[in-house]
Amino acid sequence: MGEWPGAERRDPPKTSSTWVVRHALSRWLQAQARDLRGGAPVRVLDVGCGVKPYYPFFADIASEYVGVDVVENPLAELLGPVEALPVEDASFDVVLCTQVLEHCDDPAAAVRELRRVTRPGGRVLASTHGVQVYHPSPADYWRWTHEGLRRLFTTGADWTDLAVEPAAGTGSALAMLLATYVEIALRRSVLARPPVWALNGLGTALDRRVGLLRQPVPGSLIPNLHVVAIP
Ligand SMILES: C[S@@+](CC[C@H](N)C(=O)[O-])C[C@H]1O[C@@H](n2cnc3c(N)ncnc32)[C@H](O)[C@@H]1O
Repeated sequence: MGEWPGAERRDPPKTSSTWVVRHALSRWLQAQARDLRGGAPVRVLDVGCGVKPYYPFFADIASEYVGVDVVENPLAELLGPVEALPVEDASFDVVLCTQVLEHCDDPAAAVRELRRVTRPGGRVLASTHGVQVYHPSPADYWRWTHEGLRRLFTTGADWTDLAVEPAAGTGSALAMLLATYVEIALRRSVLARPPVWALNGLGTALDRRVGLLRQPVPGSLIPNLHVVAIP
């Protein structure tokens, strides 16, 4: 698995300010892939695939793993935006869309497309930010609350099941934001690693200890949200 690109996303170092997001995302996708194991092989579409960092999690259960990206990308088989995917209706069993919705022009059209290309009973696995600093790829437009993201998914698309869950809690979000500025202040040098590691540990420990910090309640800050949507 280490040889496939994106190892730092599958197994992010705790010394990185993106650890809070990528660690939870990696664990969640591994659990999703485990859940699919034992069933029939699945056709997977990875939308906004980048380097397809999560391909290794699905490699042994996928009959096909197709990447699509909006920019020229040597790892993407298809070129196109999430708002107009160049694939047939209901043609994939699993559709990944990780850390893409915040970058696309029209999130409502994107969700309709994710729904259109997923077969009934298949699953869309999407993730996107609650709070995060500006990070264009190639643009950066949107952030959501858990309520807003649920509304985005239910407006204009029908699902038989929909779960929108915080990926981590308020302690983790605060740690991530502080860690981001520590990295900036220390010019992303190795000097940033110990304080970032400590902040990540502290944020996680706080969330673990105080249940309310893990809940999306008034006053909460959620770094990232995970969506399982079943047509
Ligand atoms: C932050 S990267 C995430 C890459 C990968 N999904 C991951 O989780 O590591 C955002 C990706 O979304 C792609 N992207 C941005 N806008 C898009 C759009 N409208 N349609 C499809 N892909 C888009 C970018 O080119 C980039 O590959």
